[in-house]
Amino acid sequence: ALVASLRAGLLVWYDTHGRKLPWRQGERDPYRVWLSEVMLQQTTVPHAAPYYEKFLRLWPTLRDLAAAEDGRVMAEWAGLGYYARARKLLECARTVVRGHGGVFPADETELLKLPGFGPYTSAAVAAIAFGHAANVVDGNIERVMTRLYAIETPMPAAKPQVREAAAQWVNDDRAGDWPQALMDMATLICRPKSPVCGGCPLAEACVARARGEQERFPVKLAK
Ligand code: ADE
Repeated sequence: ALVASLRAGLLVWYDTHGRKLPWRQGERDPYRVWLSEVMLQQTTVPHAAPYYEKFLRLWPTLRDLAAAEDGRVMAEWAGLGYYARARKLLECARTVVRGHGGVFPADETELLKLPGFGPYTSAAVAAIAFGHAANVVDGNIERVMTRLYAIETPMPAAKPQVREAAAQWVNDDRAGDWPQALMDMATLICRPKSPVCGGCPLAEACVARARGEQERFPVKLAK
């Protein structure tokens, strides 16, 4: 019951304070969701946004991207880094066009089989594009969960525990908004340094905050 009301509270917060980002406009095109999530894996929202818009101007659909010249895609990717990811991007576009009739599979397990798709991307696309109650966990959500439950196990050993904690918050209601609400809250409120807990819709449940130890989480192994 506590989870349900706090979850609803975070979604209300998201409706007013969530970032208005280019990939959050209009209907949920899996191609757009996938493209944005691949770009966002290696860079911040402000850095990725212009690349996202440029790619959609150059290649408005998955089929356009699949038909693009490799060298052109690599050149336009320059500045985002991690070229392996750009190569996988093209490989994936071509796999979906040739093997799936140009339509992304609407299933997390099937998505995971596509080139470049890991657990994060598969869950994010399943949730945001298809509205499935997938357990999306990235570094931002890890930070929120380790603070909320004061998880003392150091990262990355705590990953299974963190996933289990995050799973308790996932359900079919606004399944795609939920991870994005958490990511925005993590970026704007539950920041790595100097979190601004006064504005946090989850503050009353946060164990780290109750102890005044927010910045100690996530715990990392001493170097
Ligand atoms: N980081 C990765 N994916 C994101 C999204 N959909 N919204 C905000 N930040 C993100």
